[in-house]
Amino acid sequence: MPKTTPKNALYAQSGGVTAVINATAAGVIETARKHRRHIGKVYAGRHGIVGALQEDLIDVSRESLATLRGLRYTPAGAFGSARFKLKGIEQNRTEYQRLIEVFRAHDIGYFFYNGGNDSMDTAHKLSQIGEQLGYPITCIGVPKTVDNDLPFTDCCPGFGSVAKYVAVSTREAALDVASMARTSTKVFVLEVMGRHAGWIAAAGGLAAGKAGDAPQIILFPEIPFERAAFLARVKQSVERQGYCVIVVSEGAATADGKFLADAGTKDAFGHTQLGGVGPVVANMVREALGYKYHWAVADYLQRSARHIASKVDVEQAYAVGKAAVELAVRGANAVMPTIVRKSSRPYRWTIGSAPLAEVANIERKLPRDFITTDGFGITAKCRRYLEPLIAGEDYPPYVGGLPAYVRIKGVGVRKKLPPFGR
Ligand code: F6P
Repeated sequence: MPKTTPKNALYAQSGGVTAVINATAAGVIETARKHRRHIGKVYAGRHGIVGALQEDLIDVSRESLATLRGLRYTPAGAFGSARFKLKGIEQNRTEYQRLIEVFRAHDIGYFFYNGGNDSMDTAHKLSQIGEQLGYPITCIGVPKTVDNDLPFTDCCPGFGSVAKYVAVSTREAALDVASMARTSTKVFVLEVMGRHAGWIAAAGGLAAGKAGDAPQIILFPEIPFERAAFLARVKQSVERQGYCVIVVSEGAATADGKFLADAGTKDAFGHTQLGGVGPVVANMVREALGYKYHWAVADYLQRSARHIASKVDVEQAYAVGKAAVELAVRGANAVMPTIVRKSSRPYRWTIGSAPLAEVANIERKLPRDFITTDGFGITAKCRRYLEPLIAGEDYPPYVGGLPAYVRIKGVGVRKKLPPFGR
Protein backbone atom coordinates (compact mmCIF):
# COMPACT_ATOMS: atom_id res chain seq x y z
CA MET A 1 0.00 0.00 0.00
CA PRO A 2 1.53 3.42 -0.93
CA LYS A 3 2.46 5.50 2.09
CA THR A 4 0.25 8.57 2.63
CA THR A 5 1.27 11.41 4.92
CA PRO A 6 -1.65 12.24 7.18
CA LYS A 7 -2.99 15.79 7.08
CA ASN A 8 -4.93 17.50 9.84
CA ALA A 9 -8.66 18.19 9.52
CA LEU A 10 -10.64 21.31 10.32
CA TYR A 11 -14.30 21.02 11.32
CA ALA A 12 -16.46 24.15 11.47
CA GLN A 13 -20.08 24.76 12.40
CA SER A 14 -21.98 27.39 10.48
CA GLY A 15 -25.27 29.26 10.50
CA GLY A 16 -28.22 28.56 12.78
CA VAL A 17 -27.47 25.65 15.08
CA THR A 18 -29.70 22.64 15.74
CA ALA A 19 -30.48 20.06 18.41
CA VAL A 20 -28.29 17.52 16.62
CA ILE A 21 -25.43 19.38 14.94
CA ASN A 22 -23.08 18.17 17.66
CA ALA A 23 -24.02 14.58 16.80
CA THR A 24 -22.62 15.36 13.36
CA ALA A 25 -19.48 16.75 15.01
CA ALA A 26 -19.19 13.47 16.94
CA GLY A 27 -19.57 11.56 13.65
CA VAL A 28 -16.75 13.57 12.06
CA ILE A 29 -14.41 13.37 15.06
CA GLU A 30 -14.92 9.70 15.89
CA THR A 31 -14.61 8.62 12.26
CA ALA A 32 -11.51 10.74 11.66
CA ARG A 33 -9.86 8.89 14.56
CA LYS A 34 -10.37 5.65 12.68
CA HIS A 35 -8.48 6.95 9.65
CA ARG A 36 -5.11 7.82 11.12
CA ARG A 37 -3.39 6.95 7.85
CA HIS A 38 -5.09 9.97 6.25
CA ILE A 39 -6.13 12.26 9.08
CA GLY A 40 -3.83 13.45 11.85
CA LYS A 41 -5.37 15.86 14.33
CA VAL A 42 -8.91 17.21 14.23
CA TYR A 43 -9.23 20.93 14.89
CA ALA A 44 -12.46 22.89 15.15
CA GLY A 45 -12.93 26.54 14.23
CA ARG A 46 -13.99 28.51 17.30
CA HIS A 47 -17.18 30.05 15.99
CA GLY A 48 -16.77 28.37 12.66
CA ILE A 49 -15.15 30.11 9.76
CA VAL A 50 -14.52 33.23 11.86
CA GLY A 51 -12.26 31.16 14.11
CA ALA A 52 -10.53 29.76 11.04
CA LEU A 53 -9.85 33.27 9.71
CA GLN A 54 -8.56 34.45 13.08
CA GLU A 55 -6.46 31.29 13.48
CA ASP A 56 -8.57 30.60 16.55
CA LEU A 57 -8.63 26.82 16.39
CA ILE A 58 -9.70 24.34 19.04
CA ASP A 59 -7.63 21.22 19.55
CA VAL A 60 -10.29 18.54 19.72
CA SER A 61 -7.79 15.95 20.98
CA ARG A 62 -7.66 17.87 24.28
CA GLU A 63 -11.31 17.06 25.00
CA SER A 64 -12.08 14.12 27.26
CA LEU A 65 -13.71 11.01 25.85
CA ALA A 66 -16.75 11.71 28.04
CA THR A 67 -17.14 15.16 26.44
CA LEU A 68 -16.76 13.79 22.94
CA ARG A 69 -19.34 11.09 23.66
CA GLY A 70 -21.64 13.72 25.18
CA LEU A 71 -21.66 15.72 21.94
CA ARG A 72 -24.09 13.18 20.55
CA TYR A 73 -26.80 14.30 22.97
CA THR A 74 -25.92 17.98 23.49
CA PRO A 75 -27.81 20.63 21.48
CA ALA A 76 -26.53 23.85 19.87
CA GLY A 77 -23.03 24.37 18.47
CA ALA A 78 -20.47 23.08 20.98
CA PHE A 79 -17.59 24.75 19.09
CA GLY A 80 -19.51 27.93 18.33
CA SER A 81 -21.15 28.77 15.03
CA ALA A 82 -21.05 31.86 12.83
CA ARG A 83 -23.10 33.65 10.28
CA PHE A 84 -20.35 34.89 8.06
CA LYS A 85 -20.41 34.88 4.29
CA LEU A 86 -17.22 34.75 2.26
CA LYS A 87 -17.73 36.85 -0.83
CA GLY A 88 -16.53 35.75 -4.26
CA ILE A 89 -12.76 35.51 -4.66
CA GLU A 90 -12.76 38.49 -7.02
CA GLN A 91 -14.29 40.72 -4.33
CA ASN A 92 -12.34 39.44 -1.39
CA ARG A 93 -9.18 37.60 -2.18
CA THR A 94 -7.55 38.39 1.17
CA GLU A 95 -10.00 36.26 3.18
CA TYR A 96 -9.44 33.25 0.98
CA GLN A 97 -5.69 33.75 1.03
CA ARG A 98 -5.80 34.00 4.79
CA LEU A 99 -7.74 30.76 5.11
CA ILE A 100 -5.25 28.96 2.93
CA GLU A 101 -2.39 30.45 5.00
CA VAL A 102 -4.05 29.12 8.17
CA PHE A 103 -4.55 25.72 6.55
CA ARG A 104 -0.94 25.67 5.41
CA ALA A 105 0.40 26.78 8.81
CA HIS A 106 -1.48 23.99 10.56
CA ASP A 107 -1.05 21.35 7.90
CA ILE A 108 -4.79 21.14 7.35
CA GLY A 109 -5.71 19.07 4.32
CA TYR A 110 -9.38 18.41 5.05
CA PHE A 111 -12.13 20.94 5.68
CA PHE A 112 -15.54 19.78 6.91
CA TYR A 113 -18.06 22.60 6.80
CA ASN A 114 -21.26 21.82 8.67
CA GLY A 115 -24.02 24.17 7.54
CA GLY A 116 -26.89 25.08 5.25
CA ASN A 117 -27.17 26.56 1.76
CA ASP A 118 -24.78 29.45 2.25
CA SER A 119 -22.14 27.26 3.86
CA MET A 120 -22.24 24.83 0.97
CA ASP A 121 -21.44 27.77 -1.28
CA THR A 122 -18.49 28.74 0.92
CA ALA A 123 -17.17 25.16 1.03
CA HIS A 124 -17.45 25.00 -2.73
CA LYS A 125 -15.54 28.26 -3.23
CA LEU A 126 -12.83 27.13 -0.84
CA SER A 127 -12.30 23.90 -2.71
CA GLN A 128 -11.71 25.92 -5.88
CA ILE A 129 -9.48 28.46 -4.25
CA GLY A 130 -7.13 25.96 -2.67
CA GLU A 131 -6.28 24.73 -6.17
CA GLN A 132 -5.77 28.26 -7.47
CA LEU A 133 -3.51 29.23 -4.57
CA GLY A 134 -1.40 26.10 -4.83
CA TYR A 135 -2.66 24.46 -1.64
CA PRO A 136 -5.24 21.84 -2.63
CA ILE A 137 -7.68 21.14 0.15
CA THR A 138 -10.40 18.52 0.41
CA CYS A 139 -13.64 20.37 1.18
CA ILE A 140 -16.70 18.43 2.23
CA GLY A 141 -19.97 20.19 3.02
CA VAL A 142 -21.87 18.49 5.82
CA PRO A 143 -25.60 19.19 5.70
CA LYS A 144 -27.44 20.79 8.57
CA THR A 145 -30.45 23.02 8.72
CA VAL A 146 -33.70 23.01 10.61
CA ASP A 147 -35.24 24.70 7.58
CA ASN A 148 -34.91 21.42 5.59
CA ASP A 149 -34.38 23.44 2.44
CA LEU A 150 -31.19 21.91 0.99
CA PRO A 151 -31.65 20.26 -2.40
CA PHE A 152 -30.58 16.69 -3.34
CA THR A 153 -30.93 15.36 0.19
CA ASP A 154 -34.26 13.82 1.21
CA CYS A 155 -34.08 15.73 4.49
CA CYS A 156 -31.59 17.79 6.48
CA PRO A 157 -30.22 16.80 9.89
CA GLY A 158 -31.76 19.11 12.46
CA PHE A 159 -35.14 19.20 10.77
CA GLY A 160 -36.54 15.95 12.19
CA SER A 161 -36.04 17.16 15.75
CA VAL A 162 -37.60 20.57 15.13
CA ALA A 163 -40.46 18.83 13.37
CA LYS A 164 -40.97 16.58 16.37
CA TYR A 165 -40.88 19.48 18.83
CA VAL A 166 -43.40 21.47 16.77
CA ALA A 167 -45.73 18.49 16.29
CA VAL A 168 -45.58 17.60 20.01
CA SER A 169 -46.07 21.22 21.16
CA THR A 170 -48.97 21.76 18.76
CA ARG A 171 -50.72 18.62 20.01
CA GLU A 172 -50.18 19.57 23.67
CA ALA A 173 -51.19 23.23 23.35
CA ALA A 174 -54.25 22.18 21.35
CA LEU A 175 -55.47 20.11 24.32
CA ASP A 176 -55.00 23.16 26.52
CA VAL A 177 -56.99 25.55 24.33
CA ALA A 178 -59.71 22.95 23.80
CA SER A 179 -60.11 22.74 27.59
CA MET A 180 -60.40 26.51 27.95
CA ALA A 181 -62.42 27.36 24.88
CA ARG A 182 -65.94 27.29 26.27
CA THR A 183 -65.45 30.28 28.55
CA SER A 184 -62.06 31.72 27.71
CA THR A 185 -59.29 31.31 25.07
CA LYS A 186 -60.54 30.28 21.65
CA VAL A 187 -57.47 30.74 19.50
CA PHE A 188 -53.88 29.61 19.94
CA VAL A 189 -51.18 30.68 17.51
CA LEU A 190 -47.76 29.00 17.31
CA GLU A 191 -45.08 30.74 15.26
CA VAL A 192 -42.34 28.49 13.88
CA MET A 193 -39.09 28.98 11.97
CA GLY A 194 -38.18 27.90 8.46
CA ARG A 195 -37.51 31.12 6.56
CA HIS A 196 -38.99 30.86 3.05
CA ALA A 197 -39.76 27.16 3.24
CA GLY A 198 -42.79 25.69 5.01
CA TRP A 199 -41.30 22.37 6.12
CA ILE A 200 -41.37 23.18 9.83
CA ALA A 201 -44.88 24.65 9.64
CA ALA A 202 -46.00 21.51 7.83
CA ALA A 203 -44.68 19.41 10.72
CA GLY A 204 -47.26 21.10 12.96
CA GLY A 205 -49.84 19.27 10.84
CA LEU A 206 -48.61 15.95 12.23
CA ALA A 207 -50.32 16.85 15.51
CA ALA A 208 -53.72 16.12 13.98
CA GLY A 209 -54.90 12.55 14.33
CA LYS A 210 -58.08 12.97 12.23
CA ALA A 211 -59.96 15.59 10.18
CA GLY A 212 -60.95 18.63 12.25
CA ASP A 213 -58.18 18.06 14.81
CA ALA A 214 -55.75 20.86 15.58
CA PRO A 215 -54.02 22.57 13.95
CA GLN A 216 -57.02 23.71 11.98
CA ILE A 217 -54.89 26.22 10.07
CA ILE A 218 -51.28 26.21 8.89
CA LEU A 219 -49.93 29.34 7.22
CA PHE A 220 -47.14 28.42 4.80
CA PRO A 221 -44.64 30.75 3.12
CA GLU A 222 -45.44 28.97 -0.14
CA ILE A 223 -49.11 30.06 -0.05
CA PRO A 224 -49.79 33.80 -0.35
CA PHE A 225 -51.61 35.00 2.76
CA GLU A 226 -55.16 36.23 2.20
CA ARG A 227 -56.67 37.95 5.19
CA ALA A 228 -60.35 37.37 4.36
CA ALA A 229 -59.95 33.65 3.62
CA PHE A 230 -57.86 33.20 6.76
CA LEU A 231 -60.37 34.94 9.05
CA ALA A 232 -63.27 33.02 7.54
CA ARG A 233 -61.44 29.77 8.31
CA VAL A 234 -60.72 30.83 11.91
CA LYS A 235 -64.41 31.66 12.42
CA GLN A 236 -65.51 28.37 10.89
CA SER A 237 -63.16 26.42 13.11
CA VAL A 238 -64.29 28.16 16.29
CA GLU A 239 -67.94 27.60 15.33
CA ARG A 240 -67.40 23.92 14.51
CA GLN A 241 -64.73 22.75 16.94
CA GLY A 242 -65.10 25.43 19.59
CA TYR A 243 -61.51 26.62 19.15
CA CYS A 244 -58.82 27.13 16.53
CA VAL A 245 -55.10 26.31 16.57
CA ILE A 246 -52.96 28.08 14.00
CA VAL A 247 -49.35 27.20 13.12
CA VAL A 248 -47.77 30.07 11.26
CA SER A 249 -44.43 30.06 9.52
CA GLU A 250 -42.17 33.03 10.17
CA GLY A 251 -41.91 33.33 6.36
CA ALA A 252 -45.66 33.76 5.75
CA ALA A 253 -46.11 36.53 3.20
CA THR A 254 -48.73 38.22 1.07
CA ALA A 255 -48.95 37.74 -2.70
CA ASP A 256 -46.64 40.73 -3.31
CA GLY A 257 -43.90 38.93 -1.34
CA LYS A 258 -44.19 41.15 1.75
CA PHE A 259 -43.57 39.17 4.95
CA LEU A 260 -46.37 39.50 7.53
CA ALA A 261 -43.59 40.14 10.04
CA ASP A 262 -40.27 41.55 9.01
CA ALA A 263 -38.11 42.45 12.02
CA GLY A 264 -36.47 45.13 9.88
CA THR A 265 -32.91 43.79 10.24
CA LYS A 266 -30.72 41.66 8.01
CA ASP A 267 -28.05 39.11 8.94
CA ALA A 268 -24.55 38.77 7.47
CA PHE A 269 -25.92 36.84 4.51
CA GLY A 270 -28.40 39.61 3.71
CA HIS A 271 -31.34 37.52 4.92
CA THR A 272 -34.22 39.48 6.37
CA GLN A 273 -34.51 38.67 10.06
CA LEU A 274 -37.93 37.17 10.49
CA GLY A 275 -39.96 36.75 13.63
CA GLY A 276 -43.05 38.15 15.29
CA VAL A 277 -45.68 36.93 12.87
CA GLY A 278 -47.43 35.04 15.71
CA PRO A 279 -48.66 38.16 17.52
CA VAL A 280 -49.46 39.87 14.21
CA VAL A 281 -51.79 37.05 13.23
CA ALA A 282 -53.29 36.79 16.74
CA ASN A 283 -54.10 40.52 16.81
CA MET A 284 -55.66 40.29 13.39
CA VAL A 285 -58.01 37.60 14.75
CA ARG A 286 -58.97 39.60 17.82
CA GLU A 287 -59.58 42.81 15.91
CA ALA A 288 -61.76 41.11 13.29
CA LEU A 289 -63.49 38.43 15.35
CA GLY A 290 -63.00 39.43 18.99
CA TYR A 291 -61.80 35.99 20.16
CA LYS A 292 -59.52 35.72 23.16
CA TYR A 293 -56.18 34.27 22.12
CA HIS A 294 -52.75 33.12 23.28
CA TRP A 295 -49.72 33.00 21.07
CA ALA A 296 -46.23 31.55 21.34
CA VAL A 297 -43.09 32.03 19.33
CA ALA A 298 -41.21 28.73 19.37
CA ASP A 299 -38.03 30.54 18.30
CA TYR A 300 -34.80 29.05 19.73
CA LEU A 301 -36.79 26.62 21.89
CA GLN A 302 -37.66 24.60 18.79
CA ARG A 303 -34.16 24.23 17.39
CA SER A 304 -32.42 23.55 20.70
CA ALA A 305 -34.99 21.05 22.02
CA ARG A 306 -32.64 18.10 22.31
CA HIS A 307 -34.72 16.59 25.14
CA ILE A 308 -37.39 15.63 22.61
CA ALA A 309 -35.11 15.02 19.60
CA SER A 310 -36.09 12.55 16.93
CA LYS A 311 -34.07 9.34 17.11
CA VAL A 312 -33.98 9.14 13.31
CA ASP A 313 -32.65 12.69 13.17
CA VAL A 314 -29.89 11.97 15.68
CA GLU A 315 -28.85 8.88 13.72
CA GLN A 316 -28.84 10.75 10.42
CA ALA A 317 -26.90 13.66 11.91
CA TYR A 318 -24.19 11.28 13.09
CA ALA A 319 -24.25 9.39 9.80
CA VAL A 320 -23.59 12.46 7.62
CA GLY A 321 -20.60 13.37 9.81
CA LYS A 322 -19.22 9.87 9.48
CA ALA A 323 -19.90 9.78 5.73
CA ALA A 324 -18.19 13.15 5.25
CA VAL A 325 -14.93 11.73 6.58
CA GLU A 326 -15.29 8.50 4.65
CA LEU A 327 -15.88 10.44 1.42
CA ALA A 328 -12.83 12.60 2.10
CA VAL A 329 -10.44 9.72 2.78
CA ARG A 330 -11.69 7.94 -0.32
CA GLY A 331 -10.56 10.95 -2.34
CA ALA A 332 -13.88 12.78 -2.93
CA ASN A 333 -13.82 16.57 -2.95
CA ALA A 334 -16.38 19.39 -3.11
CA VAL A 335 -19.28 17.10 -2.29
CA MET A 336 -21.95 16.87 0.40
CA PRO A 337 -23.20 13.59 1.85
CA THR A 338 -26.97 13.31 1.38
CA ILE A 339 -29.76 11.28 2.91
CA VAL A 340 -31.43 9.04 0.36
CA ARG A 341 -34.88 7.67 1.16
CA LYS A 342 -35.32 4.12 0.00
CA SER A 343 -38.84 3.63 1.33
CA SER A 344 -41.26 5.44 3.61
CA ARG A 345 -43.19 2.51 5.12
CA PRO A 346 -41.13 0.91 6.51
CA TYR A 347 -38.73 3.83 6.59
CA ARG A 348 -35.38 2.90 5.07
CA TRP A 349 -32.60 5.28 4.16
CA THR A 350 -29.00 5.30 3.09
CA ILE A 351 -26.25 7.85 2.43
CA GLY A 352 -25.48 9.29 -1.00
CA SER A 353 -23.60 12.39 -2.11
CA ALA A 354 -24.10 15.47 -4.27
CA PRO A 355 -21.62 17.93 -5.81
CA LEU A 356 -21.37 21.18 -3.85
CA ALA A 357 -21.46 23.15 -7.10
CA GLU A 358 -25.05 22.00 -7.57
CA VAL A 359 -26.17 22.30 -3.94
CA ALA A 360 -24.89 25.79 -3.23
CA ASN A 361 -27.49 28.51 -2.76
CA ILE A 362 -30.54 26.50 -3.83
CA GLU A 363 -33.58 26.62 -1.53
CA ARG A 364 -35.91 23.63 -1.64
CA LYS A 365 -39.47 24.67 -0.85
CA LEU A 366 -42.43 22.57 0.23
CA PRO A 367 -43.97 21.03 -2.95
CA ARG A 368 -47.49 22.20 -3.77
CA ASP A 369 -48.84 18.67 -3.54
CA PHE A 370 -47.74 18.54 0.13
CA ILE A 371 -50.28 21.31 0.86
CA THR A 372 -54.07 20.80 0.72
CA THR A 373 -55.98 22.55 -2.08
CA ASP A 374 -57.37 25.17 0.32
CA GLY A 375 -53.79 26.06 1.31
CA PHE A 376 -54.34 25.55 5.06
CA GLY A 377 -53.22 21.99 5.73
CA ILE A 378 -50.95 19.10 4.78
CA THR A 379 -51.79 16.26 2.41
CA ALA A 380 -51.42 12.53 3.00
CA LYS A 381 -48.31 12.63 0.81
CA CYS A 382 -46.72 15.24 3.07
CA ARG A 383 -47.61 13.20 6.15
CA ARG A 384 -46.00 10.12 4.58
CA TYR A 385 -42.84 12.14 4.00
CA LEU A 386 -42.75 13.71 7.48
CA GLU A 387 -43.78 10.86 9.76
CA PRO A 388 -40.59 8.79 9.61
CA LEU A 389 -38.43 11.83 10.28
CA ILE A 390 -39.86 12.37 13.76
CA ALA A 391 -39.81 8.70 14.68
CA GLY A 392 -38.31 7.48 17.92
CA GLU A 393 -36.92 9.21 20.98
CA ASP A 394 -33.29 9.58 21.99
CA TYR A 395 -33.38 11.08 25.47
CA PRO A 396 -30.22 12.65 26.87
CA PRO A 397 -29.11 11.51 30.33
CA TYR A 398 -30.77 13.49 33.14
CA VAL A 399 -29.13 14.58 36.38
CA GLY A 400 -31.10 16.35 39.09
CA GLY A 401 -34.11 16.54 36.82
CA LEU A 402 -32.25 18.32 34.02
CA PRO A 403 -30.50 17.08 30.89
CA ALA A 404 -26.78 16.67 31.56
CA TYR A 405 -25.33 18.36 28.51
CA VAL A 406 -21.58 18.70 27.97
CA ARG A 407 -19.42 21.76 27.40
CA ILE A 408 -16.05 21.59 25.68
CA LYS A 409 -12.85 22.80 27.33
CA GLY A 410 -11.97 24.43 24.03
CA VAL A 411 -8.16 24.38 24.40
CA GLY A 412 -6.76 26.58 21.64
CA VAL A 413 -4.10 25.53 19.13
CA ARG A 414 -0.91 27.64 19.40
CA LYS A 415 -1.08 30.46 16.85
CA LYS A 416 1.65 30.63 14.21
CA LEU A 417 0.56 33.61 12.13
CA PRO A 418 0.19 37.34 12.71
CA PRO A 419 -3.39 38.45 13.57
CA PHE A 420 -5.81 38.96 10.72
CA GLY A 421 -7.57 42.31 10.94
CA ARG A 422 -11.10 43.03 9.81
O1 F6P B 1 -31.62 28.96 9.14
C1 F6P B 1 -32.07 28.39 10.29
C2 F6P B 1 -32.85 29.35 11.12
O2 F6P B 1 -33.16 28.70 12.32
C3 F6P B 1 -34.09 29.94 10.44
O3 F6P B 1 -35.20 29.10 10.50
C4 F6P B 1 -34.27 31.22 11.21
O4 F6P B 1 -34.97 32.19 10.47
C5 F6P B 1 -32.86 31.65 11.42
O5 F6P B 1 -32.08 30.49 11.44
C6 F6P B 1 -32.60 32.45 12.66
O6 F6P B 1 -31.26 32.77 12.66
P1 F6P B 1 -30.48 33.53 13.78
O7 F6P B 1 -30.33 32.59 14.94
O8 F6P B 1 -29.17 33.90 13.17
O9 F6P B 1 -31.32 34.74 14.11
